[in-house]
Amino acid sequence: MNLEELNQIKEAALAEANGAADAAALEEVRIKYLSRKGLLTDVMAQLKDVPNEEKPLFGKGANELKQELTALIKERQESLSDGPKKGGAFDPTLPGQWPALGSEHPISKVTARITEIFQTLGFTVADGPDVETVWNNFDALNTPADHPSRDEQDTFYLNSGELLRCHTSPVQVRYMESHTPPIRIIAPGRCYRRDTPDATHSANFHQVEGLFVAEDVSMADLKGTLAYFAKQFLGEDVKIRFRPHFFPFTEPSFEVDFFFEVGGKARWIEILGAGMVDPEVFKKVGYDPEKVTGFAFGMGIERLAMIMYGIKDIRNLYENDVRFLSQF
Ligand code: DAH
Repeated sequence: MNLEELNQIKEAALAEANGAADAAALEEVRIKYLSRKGLLTDVMAQLKDVPNEEKPLFGKGANELKQELTALIKERQESLSDGPKKGGAFDPTLPGQWPALGSEHPISKVTARITEIFQTLGFTVADGPDVETVWNNFDALNTPADHPSRDEQDTFYLNSGELLRCHTSPVQVRYMESHTPPIRIIAPGRCYRRDTPDATHSANFHQVEGLFVAEDVSMADLKGTLAYFAKQFLGEDVKIRFRPHFFPFTEPSFEVDFFFEVGGKARWIEILGAGMVDPEVFKKVGYDPEKVTGFAFGMGIERLAMIMYGIKDIRNLYENDVRFLSQF
């Protein structure tokens, strides 16, 4: 091996690196010359056979070739992998990059629709925290200490003595304690219960609470309001019925069913709990039950969303799988 041969190798190596058409071809050039078993390793090994007077120049030349080729390959790797951007060429005919648009979550959709309907009746939206006092969640709602829903297994208690609210009803208490009648609110929000998740249970879920307090509010007002809501929400053909029930904070209390078509068949479906505000609740928040009356109601949003959209498993609503969510 002598200087001339080294120069030939150099010319060939640089020409091949410059001529490589794509990243794979370039990688082949790199392996051919620069890898451990590549040509340049050979060249170095042959230094000992180079005529003595050429040795210094040969050594220097071989080192320079290695550096030059390494730099050239690196530069070409970058321009090949980055395409026109790095090369400075902007191609205005390429399609634009669109950010993927999300869609409204079914729970948000149903909540928004319910809210909108009650707003047309003059209800305003009230809010309360997820972490509640036992007083707001239970005592003020006439739910005594021995009521089964106060069981430690029923909701989540915090070390502070507070709890994660198990319904949106405590917003009634907060609102009445800080406002004077007349009151007309709805309160959508998140609730918690110690439920083991399955197709119809979730440890957190959503409700919308409603409260109307004024002078002479009657059962007829409750019925008229809910009938109006049902028709707005599900169409003119929907019927509603009240079934007697028990809630500690209303007297009388009802479960309210809507009769409507779902999956091609009309049937009665339980939609919400409702009733006339119990005088005990008014006393707890400092209202005079001789002066005001009111109605309240509460409905689960997941259930409505599942019925309306034919969702079979409540867990689908929380998994944030885009393939599921983009259907709505
Ligand atoms: N808080 C009740 C629940 O979680 C629902 C409810 C029933 C709310 C009757 C009300 C009502 O305001 O009047 O099951």
